[in-house]
Amino acid sequence: MAVTGVVFVAFVFIHMIGNLKVYGGPESLDSYARWLREVGYPLIPHGGVLWSLRIVLVVSLIAHVGAALALWWRGRRARGRHRRRRLRGFTAYAARTMLLGGVIILAFVIVHILDLTIGAGVAPAAHQHPQPDGTIHAYANLVASFSRVPMALFYAVSMVVIAIHIIHGWRTILQDVGATGRRLRRVWITIGVLVALAIVVGNAAIPLLVLAGVIA
Ligand code: HEM
Repeated sequence: MAVTGVVFVAFVFIHMIGNLKVYGGPESLDSYARWLREVGYPLIPHGGVLWSLRIVLVVSLIAHVGAALALWWRGRRARGRHRRRRLRGFTAYAARTMLLGGVIILAFVIVHILDLTIGAGVAPAAHQHPQPDGTIHAYANLVASFSRVPMALFYAVSMVVIAIHIIHGWRTILQDVGATGRRLRRVWITIGVLVALAIVVGNAAIPLLVLAGVIA
């Protein structure tokens, strides 16, 4: 869980940095989307890096979900009728909602790919992407998609769910590796919180700014 979790955190963080290209306007985001497909060419075939990344993400997803179910089942069997006590506040909330959060994130990723990558969502999402001649309209698709209030709000709320999931998952990595030092714990947890906050602020701002008409 920890290894695949780190793969996802790294991906979502880098993806958020890439999403910031939206502030540079259509050409900035669209040329970034083109670059994603062409990076490494001619040494690597067109789309080679993108497809490698997709394979890593799908394998990680299967491993992460499989491990989550195995842990949940083991925990249930080990606890029997007993419930964990003495957890309070955010930690208790985050720990108890990990499985639910994971399901929401999975639903978000499916909607997101159908909507912005494949264009199978409700019109007008991704309706002009990709063109047979290779033209990419990532910016126009994004604005069209987030102009729908429910979709924009779904994105913003999903980012909060992702942040909570990351903060708790990141903390548990220390337990997995058996690290107990207080200083190390504090530094590690702070890094997790900062990364999660950067993801939620950097990402959720985009649909909200489209709704506000600032990104158009
Ligand atoms: C508001 C936040 C987000 C925005 C604005 C956004 C934007 C985009 C855009 C524009 C694309 C299409 C890129 C292209 O076709 O060139 C894309 C693809 C994708 N996004 Fe996001 N994204 C966001 C959050 C996330 C999050 C949180 C995740 C993961 C949990 C994620 C996972 C993906 C994946 C897996 C793809 C498909 C990549 C591919 O196979 O082509 N995105 N995103």
